[in-house]
Amino acid sequence: MLTAAISTHGVMEGGGSYNLHAKIPAGGGSLALPYLEKAAQVCAIPAGSSAIVIADYGSSQGKNSLSPMRAAIRCLRARVGNERPIMVVHIDQHANDFNTLFDVLHSDPERYAADDPNVFPSAIGRSFYESVIPPNQVDLGWCSYAAVWLRRIPSLIPGHFMSLGCTGEVRAAFDLQATEDWRLFLSLRARELPAGGRLVVVLPGLSDTGGSGLEPVFNSANAVLAELVDERVISEDDRKRMVLGSYPRRRAQLLEPFRADGQFQSLSVENCHLLELPDAAWADYQVNGDLQALVSRHAAFFRATFVPSLSSSISDDGKRQTFADSLEQKLKRRLSDRPTPLNSFVQVMVLAKQAPTDTASAGGEVLR
Ligand SMILES: C[S@@+](CC[C@H](N)C(=O)[O-])C[C@H]1O[C@@H](n2cnc3c(N)ncnc32)[C@H](O)[C@@H]1O
Repeated sequence: MLTAAISTHGVMEGGGSYNLHAKIPAGGGSLALPYLEKAAQVCAIPAGSSAIVIADYGSSQGKNSLSPMRAAIRCLRARVGNERPIMVVHIDQHANDFNTLFDVLHSDPERYAADDPNVFPSAIGRSFYESVIPPNQVDLGWCSYAAVWLRRIPSLIPGHFMSLGCTGEVRAAFDLQATEDWRLFLSLRARELPAGGRLVVVLPGLSDTGGSGLEPVFNSANAVLAELVDERVISEDDRKRMVLGSYPRRRAQLLEPFRADGQFQSLSVENCHLLELPDAAWADYQVNGDLQALVSRHAAFFRATFVPSLSSSISDDGKRQTFADSLEQKLKRRLSDRPTPLNSFVQVMVLAKQAPTDTASAGGEVLR
């Protein structure tokens, strides 16, 4: 068993690579925008003239946060006018590529503060499995494709690096970790929201049969890892330690903490919807027939999102770059043999913080 928390696990590939290649999370975030807009229209706004606070939990390098933050600000501005300060706090692990995040906030053409002098972006480098903002300060929270990363890796996974397909004791260890981490994440956010605050959580989802849609790329990458061991690019021991802490939860697992009385730590569920996300790279391939472009996009997404976590198991620092390059090249080759769309799922949850005495649901769907 691995017992230590791996604080840098789940960090994306730096140098702006994640921003360039994370089109699947960008697509999932776009699907969830109407939920964020609605949350911004109804969340409680603090009395007086103090700043309204939007928190972006797990922002990574920021590109995929621009459109959601812009949408949220637009909805808040419609309610409070142009003078009220709005503070946007981007939160990620300390090892995140914050340099790229600040570049994006400063100079991306789509940056949300460009035309609004009363918007104040900031960033915090701390795990969201700790308190990251003082109590009652977050009026509107957004967390996209981030809470899928567990706080710690509970077990090695014989024969694979991804918990999705595993069974028995290994599965049980991941299920338990995911249950504990989701409850911890919710408890911490519940403290940070004031009564009436809203939190929108977007996660990679699972179909009714438990499929994520990304299996073709995960299974091809797993086969590539075996090749890399055979070719001694990585050692057998390095390979065994390669485990991703990314754990997509089923809808029932996300709702489990709320089952007893419809609330958990004063949070209630306003929405919990599963949406389908067609593969945009595949749609382009259907039009242009460019197989190399298709597999390059799929492999670059895998590399930017998952390879830093895999390569953190390699004891020899000098080998990590070679590993990443070789894996990407071989993955492209395998993916070209059997081109497949990565049609995935997006789970959107909207949570509302209730006032202490207000036990009724905030008007969302009934869970029981
Ligand atoms: C797949 S990226 C998502 C980035 C962006 N929100 C998006 O939608 O594209 C996941 C991000 O969550 C961050 N993350 C993972 N675990 C975290 C934790 N415990 N605390 C804070 N951030 C975390 C990672 O560092 C990474 O930047």
